[in-house]
Amino acid sequence: MTSINHPSRRDFLSQAAAAGGGAVTVPRLLAGGMLSAAGLAAGCESATSRPGQSSWPDLATLPIPTGPTDDAWAAVRAHFILQPGTAYMNNASLGMPPGVVAEAVADGYLAISTEPLHGKHDLQDRIAQTVMPSLAQTFGADISEISLTRNATEALHLQTLSLDLSPGDEVLITTHEHPAGHRPWMVRAARHGVTVREVFIPSPLVSVEDVISRFEAEITNRTRAIAFCHVTRGGHRYPVRELCTFARERGLVSLVDGAQAVGQFPVDLHELGCDAYSASMHKWMFGPVGTGFLYVRSGARDGFSPAFEPGGAVTGAEYAPPGTADFPVRAALATSLAFVERIRLANVEVRCRHLSDYLKGRLAKLDGCTLLSGPEHLSAPGSTIFELAGLDAVASVPRLEELARTHIDEHQRDGHDAIRVSTHVYNTKSEIDRLVDGLEAARGL
Ligand SMILES: Cc1ncc(COP(=O)(O)O)c(C=O)c1O
Repeated sequence: MTSINHPSRRDFLSQAAAAGGGAVTVPRLLAGGMLSAAGLAAGCESATSRPGQSSWPDLATLPIPTGPTDDAWAAVRAHFILQPGTAYMNNASLGMPPGVVAEAVADGYLAISTEPLHGKHDLQDRIAQTVMPSLAQTFGADISEISLTRNATEALHLQTLSLDLSPGDEVLITTHEHPAGHRPWMVRAARHGVTVREVFIPSPLVSVEDVISRFEAEITNRTRAIAFCHVTRGGHRYPVRELCTFARERGLVSLVDGAQAVGQFPVDLHELGCDAYSASMHKWMFGPVGTGFLYVRSGARDGFSPAFEPGGAVTGAEYAPPGTADFPVRAALATSLAFVERIRLANVEVRCRHLSDYLKGRLAKLDGCTLLSGPEHLSAPGSTIFELAGLDAVASVPRLEELARTHIDEHQRDGHDAIRVSTHVYNTKSEIDRLVDGLEAARGL
């Protein structure tokens, strides 16, 4: 098994230890003489040079993967600083940023801590001039349609609470919503007298037509909006374009939870035709933890009343919560987006599909294994769910960590006792082999 162990990870740990007192140090800054460990610990030394000498190779030199194999992705894998020996396959919960993104966050914090005034302005400039245009370009939107948030949960609350609705108006959601998507609708029901009805959608999905006809069957003359996931927690991929067309033809607003979708495959928001879309950048998009966005289509704005006074938004458009924000974290999104631009989301999709197909092939040979992911056009490339007779899904999580140093998750919902394995580009077939061997061993315990 190839382990993920870039030299700067070792530097990071050893220099952090050398700095003592738990001080966090950044290898390239120390190596480049910008700040000394002692100075950092004393909190008094000023910068002697600007950031810019990353300990990571320039992303422009990262080879663009030319196929789906482990070999083709080895150079990309080398950018991740996961503890050697651990196989991380829980990206649907929280993804891993590459080292260069972790370094960008640390750089931003050092910059704003050593020079708050200029540090803040520099970071705000990076957010306005690089992050926002790059986000808009990556997701096929206009800059003015995007507001930065801390995560999809925040964005989902903003999109749901901002939608103009009157008492007695009806909204259709699905039985697959994540609590982050479900809870704000419960607030609308309790506070504003909105009727929220759940459309039952089977797991796995049956077909595009089946999903649409289930919505169709529930629509009444009071229905004003439909809300659903692009990709569910269980990895089911909804026919978003078709559902949004369906909504538009009936004069309904379409609101999408894209937390599990962005980063697994290309997403073009204008092309999808949704009115609002909420996303997390820290799952599949290699973003630093605490990053996400809300998209509201410019043509749909009249139907929303933002919760905040627009002049207060420091970054992003009028939906963004106002005031001082985590600028270093948001500015580091520029690096995540550059990383993604380099490796390309279309390649990520092919690679993720290649790994999940391999996993599914191995699972198919296990006695008592029921695969619960749908066919390719109805499932996300990276998330796989299945039940394994004789193994409780919740119990499998710590057991697999113990037996195979493999991080996975459970999916005990939608009527399943399922295990969820969410593999990203940096996983390998040998890690999957280790996981499947571990599953067999765990079942025998
Ligand atoms: C479908 C879906 N929506 C929303 C969320 C919430 O994401 P976050 O915790 O990043 O806000 C999740 C998290 O797992 C999710 O799976």
